[in-house]
Amino acid sequence: MAFETTLPGRWFYDPAIYEREQERLFGRMWTYVGRADALPHPGDFLTVDLGGENVLVVRGKDGAVRAFLNVCRHRGARLCLEPCGTAGAVIQCPYHAWSYGLDGRLLGAPNIGPGERLDRDGLGLHPVALEEWEGLLWVTLAEDPAPLAAQLEPPLVDRFGELAKFARYGIGGLAVGRSISYDVAANWKLVVENFMECYHCAPVHPELTRLLPEFRNGTSYQGIVGQGTAFAGDIDGFTLSGAGGRATLPGLLPTDERLYYGFVLWPNLFVNLLPDHVILHRLLPTGPETCSVVCDWLFTPEEIARPGFDPTDTVEVFDITNKQDWEVCERTQLGMRSRAYKDGGFYVTNEQHIAGFRDLVLAKVGEPAAVLAGD
Ligand code: FES
Ligand SMILES: [Fe+2]
Repeated sequence: MAFETTLPGRWFYDPAIYEREQERLFGRMWTYVGRADALPHPGDFLTVDLGGENVLVVRGKDGAVRAFLNVCRHRGARLCLEPCGTAGAVIQCPYHAWSYGLDGRLLGAPNIGPGERLDRDGLGLHPVALEEWEGLLWVTLAEDPAPLAAQLEPPLVDRFGELAKFARYGIGGLAVGRSISYDVAANWKLVVENFMECYHCAPVHPELTRLLPEFRNGTSYQGIVGQGTAFAGDIDGFTLSGAGGRATLPGLLPTDERLYYGFVLWPNLFVNLLPDHVILHRLLPTGPETCSVVCDWLFTPEEIARPGFDPTDTVEVFDITNKQDWEVCERTQLGMRSRAYKDGGFYVTNEQHIAGFRDLVLAKVGEPAAVLAGD
């Protein structure tokens, strides 16, 4: 059997390819940018670099979250510089003090008289499409985007065979018990590919494979419909010690217990389902050879409100696993510029499903020859 080949090394460091990827992939797909509960009050905002733009996501007075290009319509100043914060009742540009409502409308432009005929109605912030799904905020810069569900549901059905099995986890009703941010010195695609396979699990993740021994055989199960990974027979919970004690998530069935499910919702959300909590990774490219990952550990609000709630015992499993993953991704990044990797590498049998991700990138960004020719 011929193995599928990876993208050429250049796809993992070339700024021109990165720029094109931003424009054609992140600039057109729905991308997960943050949690809705990170913006609890009107005026709370976050900003994100996406598709060559900087996008401002803000909760309005009516409770709705909206997204806009983070650019003042007057002379183009960036409105909010911080990654997150609170704008207050209006978004005011610090340059000449134009002010915008939280719904993007231009409310005030100082020292412009009525006779100067400023078209205030036409000078609101440029809207960006935003949808909330399971408590997660997704935006797209596409002009006339298909609904978010059209992007998310097919891979969920591919993974579970049905939507109901995933829905039982009730992710939208969970809250963050712990969050850790990581900077990774590797191209974002290496991080996606790494998460999609468990061929590396035996050599890289002794703690994870202690809890999920099936991973030692190198199969990720992500390419197998409906297949979870069984807990080791002698553990009670997904904690470093194997101790249990947390209540099972309310929507689950007995058949869901003692199983781990991992999968990627392209382009940038990694999902880890466990019987008593859920772990989500938000991956965002920060440059051709760097990316950032925010990892949220989600629990029921009741669990978090419990006196003495401390998720450390389970957080440390994936915190250790994450750091091990970043290390091998960064090690791989070091090889991308070598002439030895000019034509790329290949995916072995346990990694064949990653070819689907490679094909997505090619479909969005273009074939290597076309990209390098600048077409
Ligand atoms: S650039 Fe924003 S008010 Fe002038
Ligand atoms: Fe890993």
